[in-house]
Amino acid sequence: MAEPRFSRSWRIIGYRSSMDSSFRIQHVDLFCVLFLLFIRSSISVSNEIPGFCAVGYGESECGPSSSSKLLIKGGTVVNADRQEVADVYIEDGIIVSVQPNIKVGDDVTVLDATGKYVMPGGIDPHTHLEMEFMGTETIDDFFSGQAAALSGGTTMHIDFVIPVNGSLSAGFEAYAKKAKKSCMDYGFHMAITKWDEYVEREMEIMVKEKGINSFKFFLAYKGSLMINDELLLKGMKACKSLGALAMVHAENGDAVAEGQKKMIELGITGPEGHVLSRPPVLEGEATGRAIRLASFVNTPLYVVHVMSIDAMEEIAKARKAGQRVIGEPVVSGLVLDDSGLWDPDFTIAAKYVMSPPIRKQGHNKALQAALSTGLLQLVGTDHCTFNSTQKALGIDDFRKIPNGVNGIEERMHLVWDTMVESGKISVTDYVQITSTECARIFNIYPRKGAILAGSDADIIILNPNSSFQITAETHHSRTDTNVYEGRRGKGKVEVTIAGGRVVWKDGELKVLPGTGR
Ligand code: URP
Ligand code: ZN
Ligand code: ZN
Repeated sequence: MAEPRFSRSWRIIGYRSSMDSSFRIQHVDLFCVLFLLFIRSSISVSNEIPGFCAVGYGESECGPSSSSKLLIKGGTVVNADRQEVADVYIEDGIIVSVQPNIKVGDDVTVLDATGKYVMPGGIDPHTHLEMEFMGTETIDDFFSGQAAALSGGTTMHIDFVIPVNGSLSAGFEAYAKKAKKSCMDYGFHMAITKWDEYVEREMEIMVKEKGINSFKFFLAYKGSLMINDELLLKGMKACKSLGALAMVHAENGDAVAEGQKKMIELGITGPEGHVLSRPPVLEGEATGRAIRLASFVNTPLYVVHVMSIDAMEEIAKARKAGQRVIGEPVVSGLVLDDSGLWDPDFTIAAKYVMSPPIRKQGHNKALQAALSTGLLQLVGTDHCTFNSTQKALGIDDFRKIPNGVNGIEERMHLVWDTMVESGKISVTDYVQITSTECARIFNIYPRKGAILAGSDADIIILNPNSSFQITAETHHSRTDTNVYEGRRGKGKVEVTIAGGRVVWKDGELKVLPGTGR
């Protein structure tokens, strides 16, 4: 049944109180509040996002700016291979022309980008929206997570479909449904969690009919998502024959289970037990093993969330030997260290729990260096958010703390500040590692990941002289904590354009569910 017209017109505007995730609503009168209450009671829970105006304001006010013609004037347009001062003209969601001094008529909305960078919107290769995991479900869905992404300059992400009872098609259907509320473009990878002839057949259907070209194998999470080497080999062979890309979560799950048992026996039940039970050596072992098996099968390999020197060095060694291995660090691994996990306040420590764990100081700097020299290729987030109540599932036992941290909103700013502002990489490198490389690897370039005539108008305007500050008080994710709480830095995404629509400008987010593809 079609949703009522008013429930599809949302605007995130305003600011949140940190604990109850409720935004205060601006510009609404008493009638609006009453009407709003009526609307909230008539929509599905999954569409409830704090901070909106759904109140009889038509799409032009509540939804994204809907002018189909846009000119971005006078900015420095940056692609992965070059930068130039030019204008960008957009019609109906597509870039029509990139050149200096484009003349347009009065019907075109003009954005002045003088002194600013005009870059492809970020593409996050690694997210988990609305994922059932560890006895709960990630709190950001395809609307709230994407709204957060857009406010931080990311205009596309690739999420991981988790099969339903091992069924890929059931998993695909479930995620296609979840993604209906999308407000930006997205793609899917798919996890492989068991093996039989149906799975092999379904992999082919996913590749040939559903456009999925990457499959993830979990070498950890024993008893749930983890698979053994026999299955990994079968899965890699299937990827090879289908021309799909094999991806691994590389930790030795058997050894992790052993490490966890040891911690509990020692009476270590707090979040620090998470770090102690799964040291870098277990990440290095699994990374090396997966790389060798990929070499044996002779198929490319993509290692997700590279968190340690141990794993990074395995990737670097294989690449040097000529093997096609791609390494994806995530923002948390690049900019944080494990100190937060030792905080005596459980809520603070638990928010940092993710796998592989955030490592000791030193691993982050080494991963930054590997990224700047090309040993690692692109940056993801592994955005996988749980609120404090969900994290408290593990208050007496770190093994039950849902694993995952935020990052989809923060990635573009933190990578700019850590890598470009610090002088480690160039602005073109920045475009490469936050957007273009991902588009190339997953076959969406040059439709995405480039500012070229014919590409989708997914664009950000970044002011290098402006600054950002991160806090759960103002972020757009539904979670009540932020692992980057209090961070400040240079470089601010002032405008985000998704599919030709201005969705983020002047600190205001205007998004509509159902506009993403
Ligand atoms: O802790 C994490 N990384 N949670 C998300 C699931 C995964 O392993 O990617
Ligand atoms: Zn993983
Ligand atoms: Zn992940």
